[in-house]
Amino acid sequence: MVPMVDLRKQFREIKDEVFKVITEILESSHYILGAKVSELEKKIAEYNNVKEAIGVASGTDALHLAIDALGVGEGDEVITTPFTFFATVEAILYTGATPVFVDIEQDTFNIDAGRIEEHITDRTKAILPVHLFGHPADMVKIREIARRHRLKVIEDCAQAFGAGLHKKKAGSIGDAGCFSFYPSKNLGGYGDGGMITLNNSKVAGIARELRNHGSKGAYRHERVGFNSRLDEIQAGILLVKFGHIDEYNKKRRRNAALYNGLLSGIVNCPVERKGAYHVYHQYTIRSGKRDKIQQKLKENGVSSVVYYPVPLHLQKALKFLDYRKGDFPVAEKAAREVLSLPMYPELEGETIVKIAGIIREV
Ligand SMILES: Cc1ncc(COP(=O)(O)O)c(C=O)c1O
Repeated sequence: MVPMVDLRKQFREIKDEVFKVITEILESSHYILGAKVSELEKKIAEYNNVKEAIGVASGTDALHLAIDALGVGEGDEVITTPFTFFATVEAILYTGATPVFVDIEQDTFNIDAGRIEEHITDRTKAILPVHLFGHPADMVKIREIARRHRLKVIEDCAQAFGAGLHKKKAGSIGDAGCFSFYPSKNLGGYGDGGMITLNNSKVAGIARELRNHGSKGAYRHERVGFNSRLDEIQAGILLVKFGHIDEYNKKRRRNAALYNGLLSGIVNCPVERKGAYHVYHQYTIRSGKRDKIQQKLKENGVSSVVYYPVPLHLQKALKFLDYRKGDFPVAEKAAREVLSLPMYPELEGETIVKIAGIIREV
């Protein structure tokens, strides 16, 4: 079976480096918030050209703590997309704020910035765009709207490590960037992990306290926080992988270009907007024959996944938000037509040719 991602293949290439760093950490006996977490924070802050980076336990926690640290919570509204992974909205709800959905663009699958202002009310405090599948949302328009209405912008960069827009890195454009190091992400650990990137030192200080029981250290607690620290061993593994991230993203882009060449005109291929640097966390096509294509791929031993089959406004768990079928037609149509194909740096050209051949046949 051709998998969606092949983490074993990648591990085998970096095995010696990974074992070396894990041994070093185990020998150090410093397992929580040690030198590797600090080093990774420093390197990611530099990479994204921001002042601060804070390692946390997951991408979901990065979003939750960033929203909280920015002072958004009970009684506030946060504008976001209905076409994303469920965690985006869980994080908003954890803070006591209410998610307010805005439909998406049909080509990038990201929030339609042109429709955000219709949804702004007196209670709106923030916009939370998701750089879905590795393509940056329209941050130029989103920042302009946020400036006009004095709103915070929190970027969900879970799928977009290394992506950029007009030479700025995803996670450095809004008030906070939130990354996930879930194993299958572009920069993934061997377990859970996440990071917040931002420029405001005061907000960063609050986020640092929140991740560690509201404490600056030494059993003095400024606020009630959480246990949400990035694990030292994960930080060590992530430092190894961080050393390869640009090469990994380039290989994903090479693979996407190959898919594009073979599939354009047959299905709708992913777009890359002017000024955008897409990192293809997913290579997602759309077609009216989606289900047939998926069936045929399966018969031929090729994995594919529908991200996402049910937009968030139609999820049972969010019924209390009172949305209905038809509220976000672009997202609903995308849910019927999208299909993500195998995509990872080590994916071979001949496999892509084979996959494209099956799709062309359908
Ligand atoms: C768009 C998006 N937001 C948030 C998350 C949550 O990240 P994590 O699984 O690290 O909590 C994910 C991935 O899982 C994601 O894809």
